[in-house]
Order: sequence, then structure tokens, then C-alpha cells
Amino acid sequence: MTIETVGVVGAGQMGNGIAHVLAVAGYDVTLMDVDAQRLEAGLARIGANLGRQVARGKTSEEAKRLALGRIRTTVALQDLGASDLIIEAATERESVKQKIFDELAPSLKPKTILTTNTSSLSITRLAGRTSRPEQFMGLHFMNPVPVMQLVELIRGIATSRETFEAVQALVQRLGKSAVVAEDYPAFIVNRILIPMINEAIYTLHEGVGSVVDIDQSMKLGANHPMGPLELADFIGLDTCLAIMSVLHSGLADTKYRPCPLLVKYVEAGWLGRKVGRGFYDYR
Ligand code: CAA
Repeated sequence: MTIETVGVVGAGQMGNGIAHVLAVAGYDVTLMDVDAQRLEAGLARIGANLGRQVARGKTSEEAKRLALGRIRTTVALQDLGASDLIIEAATERESVKQKIFDELAPSLKPKTILTTNTSSLSITRLAGRTSRPEQFMGLHFMNPVPVMQLVELIRGIATSRETFEAVQALVQRLGKSAVVAEDYPAFIVNRILIPMINEAIYTLHEGVGSVVDIDQSMKLGANHPMGPLELADFIGLDTCLAIMSVLHSGLADTKYRPCPLLVKYVEAGWLGRKVGRGFYDYR
């Protein structure tokens, strides 16, 4: 099956980045969000990111115009039903994702493939709730999507070969590199990355180092492009906590216990860059 039209659910930092790379690669994209303001902000973000590429001579004004022309927006989930592929990129909460797939079901054409950009949840469990588990899989992009080269592909227990190959071909057309991860909590990248971030937060919590010194240590001492606390703010502390909690419950090992300081920051609403405050103050 060849994919030409893609519906993206969620216009947040992942959803707008995914819509961006799809449109640049020539796909017709319908970007959906229940929040009209977030939709508008997402589209403006794509325009600004493409504009920066034009300014740096990496793309042309014409290519930017064409890409933006391939994205339409909607607040109605049923408008995605005619797409060849759906990429769900909503909040990292299982109940939210399930509700989206339930509500999409009546409007889907028979061949539509469903994918989720979940960073940690069970693909098999999400797929099992739908009426098409053979046409369901995980398609996990990294943030910022237009920059990061990697995409994780995750099969559920019932994912068909046709589904996998169609999605794999899409990733290739996006010019990204795919790795295949088994369906275990948080897959590969987040199984390694988020416990490292959690450990950095413990390092802060126990007073081993300051925010700046912890980040500086990993930037200059391990050549990471961002320090772990800066990266946590960038990913979103709510997302980091959600992923740690999935690892903790899914693997039943105390080594994945979310740091109490991470929990406290999330309870305070200090979710990182997106709200202006996390380990750093962006206001
Ligand atoms: N959206 C789109 N493009 C962006 C961007 C954004 N938010 N931020 C930066 N860019 C682009 C810039 O336009 C620039 O593009 P060109 O090279 O084409 O000109 C390029 O990225 C480099 O940007 P800068 O020079 O301004 O900044 P930098 O060198 O400091 O790099 C960074 C920024 C790429 C974000 C870098 O700091 C980095 O790689 N950080 C680590 C990111 C990371 O680890 N991501 C994975 C997070 S985990 C995840 O996503 C999984 C999950 O499920 C939680």
C-alpha cells in the first residue's frame, strides 16, 4: 500500500514537527487538534521553522509555500478518516489516546493505517482496543522532529507485514533513519534516555551538583548537545514523568522510581520550556 495522505492528531511540539516533515516530503497533511489556538500556533511554528530554513539558504521560498499549501487544519477528528495513514501525537496518556482511536473508528476507510507517536506505551495494548490491530503500529519521532534523524518503528503483536512495510517506506521518503524496537516499555531511546534524565534529577535532589553544573558536566564531559536538565525542560517534565512511570510499573523494578523532585515539579505545574518554567526560568 502506498501512502499519500496523512492525518496528524495533535498540533503540539511533536504533531507540528511531524506535519512539517511530511509536507516537505510531499504528503498531503491534515493536522487536527481540539484546541483551535494550538492549531494556529502549530501552523505558525511550521511557518517560522521553514522561514528560518529559507533564511539560511537550506530551502527556497517556493518550497516553503508549497509545503505550507499541503497542510490543512481541522478541529474535527472525522476529517482525518479519508487519510491513508493516521499519526496520533496527542498527550502521553493512554486514556486520551484510546479515546482518539475510538472516536476515529467510524470515519476510517478500510485501508487506513493507524500509528501512534507514543514514547512509552504498549503498542499491542493500544492496538488491541481498535478493530484493526493488523493495521496498527508505533511510529516514534524525536524532538525537534525537523532536526532529529531517528524514527523508532514498533510492531504490535498483530501488526501485518504490509502495514510495517508501508510505514517503513514513508520514513524512508522523509529522509529519516529507522530503527526497529520491540514492544517493551519506552522502547529503545527512552528506555535509556529518560532514566538518565531521572538520575540527573536525583543528582540535583541529593545536592550533588547545581542545575548549571549538572548540565555543564554532561555537555562538556560527555559531549551531549544539551545537559539532561535542559533536555528535560525541552521534552516536558510531565512527559518525562509519564515515561518514568510506565518504566516503573511496566518493568516492576525500583531502579525506575521517578525522582520525588520530578514529581514535585510536575505537581507545581513547572513543566519546562512550554510553560516558561522548569529547571530553568524562561519567562
Ligand atoms: N524546531 C525545528 N528546528 C529546530 C528547532 C526546533 N525546535 N531547534 C533547532 N532547530 C534547527 C535550527 O533551525 C538549525 O537548523 P539548520 O542546521 O538547518 O540551520 C538546527 O536545528 C541547529 O539549531 P541551532 O544551531 O539553533 O541550535 P543547536 O545547535 O543548539 O541545536 C538542537 C539545537 C538540535 C535542539 C540540539 O540542542 C540537540 O540536538 N539537542 C538534543 C535533542 C534531543 O536529545 N532530542 C531527543 C529528545 S527525546 C525524544 O524526543 C523522545 C521522546 O519521546 C521524549
